[in-house]
Amino acid sequence: HDIHYFKEVDSTNDVAKYLAEEGAEEGTIVIAEIQNRGKGRRGKTWISPPGGVWMSIILRPDIPPFNAPQLTLVTGVAVAETLQKECNLDVGIKWPNDILIGNKKVCGILTEVNASIEKVNYVVVGIGIDMNVDVPLFPPDLQKGATSLKNELNTEINGAILVQKFLLEFETIYNEFKAGKFPEILKEWRSLSKTIGNNVEVRTRGKTIRGEAVGINKEGILILELEDGSLRKIISGECLHIN
Ligand code: BTN
Repeated sequence: HDIHYFKEVDSTNDVAKYLAEEGAEEGTIVIAEIQNRGKGRRGKTWISPPGGVWMSIILRPDIPPFNAPQLTLVTGVAVAETLQKECNLDVGIKWPNDILIGNKKVCGILTEVNASIEKVNYVVVGIGIDMNVDVPLFPPDLQKGATSLKNELNTEINGAILVQKFLLEFETIYNEFKAGKFPEILKEWRSLSKTIGNNVEVRTRGKTIRGEAVGINKEGILILELEDGSLRKIISGECLHIN
């Protein structure tokens, strides 16, 4: 597969989308040392100094567009398993796509889908891992909830090896996904989940909903039990753990 390596870009997701529009094939990777305009979910900025893994993968799965969000969960499982195996840390996933160590975020995933009504043209999954970065240098409002591999392990790790291990793990899980094994991957996701069983507050479309996260259904949708005992499905949103 093609790997496009840059010292500096605005956003690896934007470069990957450009390449995908030009016909780049499935499995094409874009990776950069620095992003000047790294993108987070919900229009947020993703701080991307040197030392992080800032990477995007172009995928062209033959799936209905409404299944594309499943790729975020698939990628989350691949990142979590890689970090668990390579760094021997207490890795978990916060719905839908934050990778945590303890209760602090170490990685975010931004999935961008280009599809028509009936078919996916391409998907770009963007992965940002705070590897050899120093969280104390982050803006103050981000410091409390964030960590990095370096800060957890008290040593720098080899980025080339980590990326290589991740790509192998991702390839295995993505091939399972394409073979129709999303239910098995979801099982893995559930066992890594730090959200299920927690009291949470979810901000979705300007509203805040509180409840207990009781599960995730086979589409990857979060199920909350509200105070009155009723169940509520949450397709997307920002989730806060509150116990
Ligand atoms: C989030 O948790 O808000 C998602 C963060 C995703 C960051 C990665 S870094 C590589 C790729 N390029 C981007 O501009 N964003 C993603």
